[in-house]
Amino acid sequence: MDGEDYPNPLRLKNGDPVTTAAQWQERRRPELLADFRRNVYGRGLPDSAPTTFEVTSTAFPGVTRKNVEITVAGPRGSAGFDLTLFVPETDGKPRGTFLMIDHRGSVGDGPGQSSGYAPVSTILAAGYAFAAFDVDGIAPDDSRTYRSEMIDLFHAPDRPLPDDAGRAVSAWAWGAGRAMDYLQTDPDLDPARVAVIGHSRSGKAALWAGAQDTRFAAVVGNNSGSTGAKLARRGDGGGGGETVSAINAAFPHWFPKTYRAFNGRESALPVDQHELLALIAPRRVVIGSASGDATADPEGEFLAYTAAAPVYELFELGDTGLPSAKWPPRTDRAFRGPAMSYHLRSGSHGLTAADWKIYLDGDLFSR
Ligand code: GCU
Repeated sequence: MDGEDYPNPLRLKNGDPVTTAAQWQERRRPELLADFRRNVYGRGLPDSAPTTFEVTSTAFPGVTRKNVEITVAGPRGSAGFDLTLFVPETDGKPRGTFLMIDHRGSVGDGPGQSSGYAPVSTILAAGYAFAAFDVDGIAPDDSRTYRSEMIDLFHAPDRPLPDDAGRAVSAWAWGAGRAMDYLQTDPDLDPARVAVIGHSRSGKAALWAGAQDTRFAAVVGNNSGSTGAKLARRGDGGGGGETVSAINAAFPHWFPKTYRAFNGRESALPVDQHELLALIAPRRVVIGSASGDATADPEGEFLAYTAAAPVYELFELGDTGLPSAKWPPRTDRAFRGPAMSYHLRSGSHGLTAADWKIYLDGDLFSR
């Protein structure tokens, strides 16, 4: 890829090559998921925790809003978080649903609201439903309080978490799974057409959610950077990219303690992030980068995207849509293969109207 020695996604731990989609699904995928859990994101909260939904619907011209309170029961009590869902009136069901993991508290109640980050009215006008939850209801983005909502339903609050237990990013990904539990039951939506989307820190969570939970038909990591789409072994990528030690130091509540063992020793990781993207196969992986987003190392995101293609190729879906695997591609253009989508927006870190235009025009739910 760039002269570095990256782990080969198509080699089993016992050294045998992976040559078929069945071998990938049955043998290699579980190995990689276990490695990412043990070393990078941590063990998640249980997906099977009993969950109930309480729905309040409000009608607007052409749009129904549903406020869904999702209550989860754990051994130490139960707690709820809110999912907001907007469903446009369409002939038949919406074209699909975008589920956003939101760490900015930026999705309000009105269907007419719009921002570059969450252009609700534009998404609805394009015929898609839009759902969002605030990460604060799952694990507040704060090193002192991140355990307070959902994590301590499953862990003793007065004791340190086990070293290999997931922290906030793992919990946010788990929250996307619980939101998906609800979306699967909503009669107004097509359960086979749900994309999970997140920007930056939420992009890391969206990719991890989509890697694990095969109910997501498409997975969008926007400017997800370090421990998202960016290859860890690139270090700072020569341009100030965020390293494993930098992210662990600045955000000690995002990842398990086990990840710190790789501070300054990325090459000792049993995985790298192209294998996270490969875990989404054969579903659609969508990577959005920004040319001026030095912290996220857009070249490292691009290289991970292209290095996931051999796994897609097992499903005969290895076309990345790019004319060449050479960095840099043209900016502000959507590249699309049958199951892989990529763009490099010009400009700085952000989820903007230009990114959303590419996602909405990207026909993410068909090959
Ligand atoms: C910081 C952090 C990144 C993260 C970003 C964000 O810059 O270092 O890893 O992606 O915040 O969430 O905006």
